This record gives sequence, structure tokens and C-alpha cells, in this order.
Amino acid sequence: MADLSVVVDGLKLPNPLVIASGPPGTNANVIGKAFDEGWGAVVCKTVSLDASKVVNVQPRYGRLRTGTSQEIIGWENIELISDRDFNVWIDEFKQIKDRYPERVLVGSIMEEYRKDAWVEIVERCQAAGVDALECNFSCPHGLPERRMGSAMGENPEILEEVCRWVMSAAKVPVWAKMTPNVTHIEEPSRAALRVGCHGISAINTIRSVIGVDLETLRPEPSVEGYTTPGGYSSKAILPIALRMAMEVAQLIKSEFSGRTLSGIGGVESGRDAAQFILLGCNTVQVCTYVMKVGYRCAREMCDELSAFMDKHGFNSIADFRGHSLQYFTSHHDLVERQAAARQKAKAAAKSEVVRADHEWTGEEFVKQSDALARG
Ligand SMILES: Cc1cc2nc3c(=O)[nH]c(=O)nc-3n(C[C@H](O)[C@H](O)[C@H](O)COP(=O)(O)O)c2cc1C
Repeated sequence: MADLSVVVDGLKLPNPLVIASGPPGTNANVIGKAFDEGWGAVVCKTVSLDASKVVNVQPRYGRLRTGTSQEIIGWENIELISDRDFNVWIDEFKQIKDRYPERVLVGSIMEEYRKDAWVEIVERCQAAGVDALECNFSCPHGLPERRMGSAMGENPEILEEVCRWVMSAAKVPVWAKMTPNVTHIEEPSRAALRVGCHGISAINTIRSVIGVDLETLRPEPSVEGYTTPGGYSSKAILPIALRMAMEVAQLIKSEFSGRTLSGIGGVESGRDAAQFILLGCNTVQVCTYVMKVGYRCAREMCDELSAFMDKHGFNSIADFRGHSLQYFTSHHDLVERQAAARQKAKAAAKSEVVRADHEWTGEEFVKQSDALARG
């Protein structure tokens, strides 16, 4: 059986499957449950120093269903970061690490555009025992008036400055979580890596409007008749997430060798996870699918990943991580490769061996005559 364990930025994980920041990491109880069910690591719901400024609404989710099975393929949320008190979180980080000293807990953090705030949140989280930090520069809705989340992540200069503050205080590995709501994800990723962040997490949710109710004519999710654009996740975003993970992986390969990548977006199976790893990811995070089916899917996903590895004879994650990156090229190069392949096939057909008459069987003379005519 294949070995699923990975070492990422010095942290040992039993497998590369990680709970992404969101409802499945929203307090100590549920984080403990995720560890019990076999998740390789957990990123908590994003915390901030002053939770009293975070006010969530209901309803805050909208879902896109498809076909006769009414399967949920897309999920929009207008949920903010955690509205739970920061001091409570600090106690819970300590409790989790007391109960699960060997397991990897990643503290997801977000703050206002102030050095003292970022330094304080980094220092207090790491003093409470988190094994790594993930800076949320990517929440697509809410809090732009405080220049938090994607308001920061969309601006590489601000992001670089904030990452510098974070790195000045951090003693644990730091991942910068990217927003997909930019044209070139390499730019904010490069800014974070340039000032020393250990890894990139990509992607957060995609800015979206999930739909308009054709009875009420109100966009959804409707809060007192109104809405605001939210963040799109779940199965439907897998291809976009794979593309962006690939772009960040290429950047790391060419400019920041040794840094790490955590792929996120639309993962629902071990086979989905394998694709992120083939594109260069060290770990793979899952949020919405866990909200749909619960933590238990970790075991099934590990079995699927393991079956994929056995089929190809891969003994470890390192055996295939980044393998498929080599097959990306420019469209121009695709045209040239195709022209060369066609030329080769034509030449091969032309040189088809004409066999001597006495070797012919049945009606082979039809094919042979044709070859002789083309000669
Ligand atoms: C309801 C909900 C809440 C989320 N809250 C956070 C959050 O607090 N911090 C964060 O960094 N990402 C948050 N996310 C984004 C996820 O961590 C993840 O990046 C995104 O949903 C794509 O992955 P998925 O398709 O597996 O859900 C949230 C996603 C959902 C659906």
C-alpha cells in the first residue's frame, strides 16, 4: 500500500488532505472530530483580533443544483470570517494542541491594514501553539471597507507589505491564501514568496452571483430582499482551481524552488486530490464537500488516492508531485507539435513496407496494390 504521509515546511502530516478554512474548522470540538476522522491537518475558520466587528447574516448560502439528480455542483456563501471571540479561540488552540499534540493545526488569520494588528495576531496564535499560519488575503465579500481579505489580496504591493510584517513576527511556517479574483495569480503569489512566506494556498472562493429567484425577482441569497456578491465554491470550481494551482506551481518551480503549495477548490474525491498533486501541490484542502457529506469522506478519499498510486506504481506522494506540469506549453507550440506529428504519420504511411507477392494472403493484394500505387 502506498505511503500517503507528507512533510510540508517541516510539518509531518499522515496524508495530504487538509480541512480548508470554513465551517468544518469553526471550533475546537469540530476540529477534534476532523482529526479523529483522519484528516491530515486542519486550517481553522479565519480568526481576527476583534470579532465584535464581524456580523454574519442569514441566509448566507446559495446552492446551484443540476440535472434530474439535483446534485449540488456550486455553492455561494456570503459568510464572513469567524465571529467568535479571539480569546476563546486562543484557549481552543491550546486545548486542541493538548489533545492532539502530533496533529497539524493551521491558524487562519486576517487583520486590518496595520502592522501592530498583524504582528499581534501572529504572536498570540503561535504562542497558543498553532503549527502554522495561513494568512487569509482572499475573502471575496465583506470587510473591504476595513481593507481586509481580497481587498488586500488583489493588490500585490499591499500584500507584500503585510507579508513582510507577518514574517517579521512569525516563528512557524506561513502560507498566504490567494484570491482567484485577479487576472494573474502569479503576481500576488510572487509578492508573498518574495518576502519569505513558506507557501501559497490557492484558491479561495470566486466572486459570484448564484442566481435570481424568478418568482420574487430577487437575487440570492436574499437577506431582507437584498444580497451582495459572494464567493463560489464546490465541484464547479475545480477546473479553475486546477488552472490557478498550476500557475502558482510553475512560478514556484521557476523562481522559488522549495516553497510549498496547498491546492484548494472543488475537491470531492481522492482522484480530484491526485490531480492537484500532479500539478505540483504538497497538500490539498477541502471545505464545501465536507459541508455536504461530513468529515468521514477523508477515509474514502485516502483510499481513492492510494488506489490511484498503486495503479501507477507510485510509492509516495513525492513520486508523482508535479509530474503533469511538464505537459503544459503554449498554443503556438501545440500547433507545431501537431504539424510535426502529422508529417511523421504521413511519412510512415508512405514508407509502408511492400511485401513480396509470394507473402500475400487472402485479399492482401488490395492493400498492397494501394501501397504500390502511392509509392
Ligand atoms: C461557507 C464557507 C465559509 C468559508 N470561510 C472561509 C474563511 O473563513 N476563511 C478562508 O480563508 N476561506 C473560507 N472559505 C473558503 C474555503 O476555505 C475554500 O478556499 C473555498 O471554499 C474553495 O474550496 P472548496 O470548493 O473545497 O470549498 C469558506 C468557504 C465556504 C464555502
